[in-house]
Amino acid sequence: MSAAAPIRRILPPDILSRKGGNRLVMLTAYTTPVARLVDPHCDIALVGDSVGMVLHGMPSTLGVTVEMMILHGRAVMRGLERAMCVIDMPFGSYEESPQQAFRNAARILSETGAPAVKLEGGAGMAETIAFLTARGVPVMAHVGLTPQAVNTLGGYRVVGRGAEADRVLADARACADAGAFAIVLEKLPAALAARVTADLPIPTIGIGAGPDCDGQVLVVDDMLGLFTDFRPKFVKRYAELGRDADAAIKAYAAEVRSGAFPGPDHVFAETVPQK
Ligand code: KIV
Repeated sequence: MSAAAPIRRILPPDILSRKGGNRLVMLTAYTTPVARLVDPHCDIALVGDSVGMVLHGMPSTLGVTVEMMILHGRAVMRGLERAMCVIDMPFGSYEESPQQAFRNAARILSETGAPAVKLEGGAGMAETIAFLTARGVPVMAHVGLTPQAVNTLGGYRVVGRGAEADRVLADARACADAGAFAIVLEKLPAALAARVTADLPIPTIGIGAGPDCDGQVLVVDDMLGLFTDFRPKFVKRYAELGRDADAAIKAYAAEVRSGAFPGPDHVFAETVPQK
């Protein structure tokens, strides 16, 4: 009897080969249990620096560190068998020079086992993307609304309207030319995202960028209705887990306060037969 074939992990060349093919499915994951939920259904699990806002209550992604990304990256890798893990390079870990970017990217890959990083920025990051890819670090790029630049952009706004459109297209092209294997398009007008997708030889993965990208990504806590602090208009909710959790915690608190907890049918540990 032969053993079952090991599950093959998706890698950056597999993602690149999906350009114009079956749409890519990507969700964020920051923990092992969520990675286990994402793995059977998604091509890519993104350990986004949104972890700072979603799990750590930070006001923006600017305070996220390389150490945090490594900690969450290791947790996510423990929960994945098949989907590809991409880990965000946090603010301040790559912008200074290609050498700084390589040092931190190499740490992220070697300490987590993930096969790829993502970084924000367009033409200004092209030299760094080329430097990393030439040294064995596959890079997913990210243009449009780049949350690490919230202060220069002046808010979490749509990017690429009017005269900005040509710059966004040039930024996306520069990333592809530099060797990025895929690119996130965040909060672009749908027509511009469609134009970028038609122009680039690499897959585009949209978030708030309309339906005509090669794939889509959402923050998992947003689409599950768990993260309620901030709800971008483009997020489609597939569940209301925050509301359900609130009702469950309220019911537990009421039972404890009234003395009804745990109820007559509850089996306590000491009454369960020991093996
Ligand atoms: O940090 C993140 O979650 C992201 C996605 C929104 C693309 O970059």
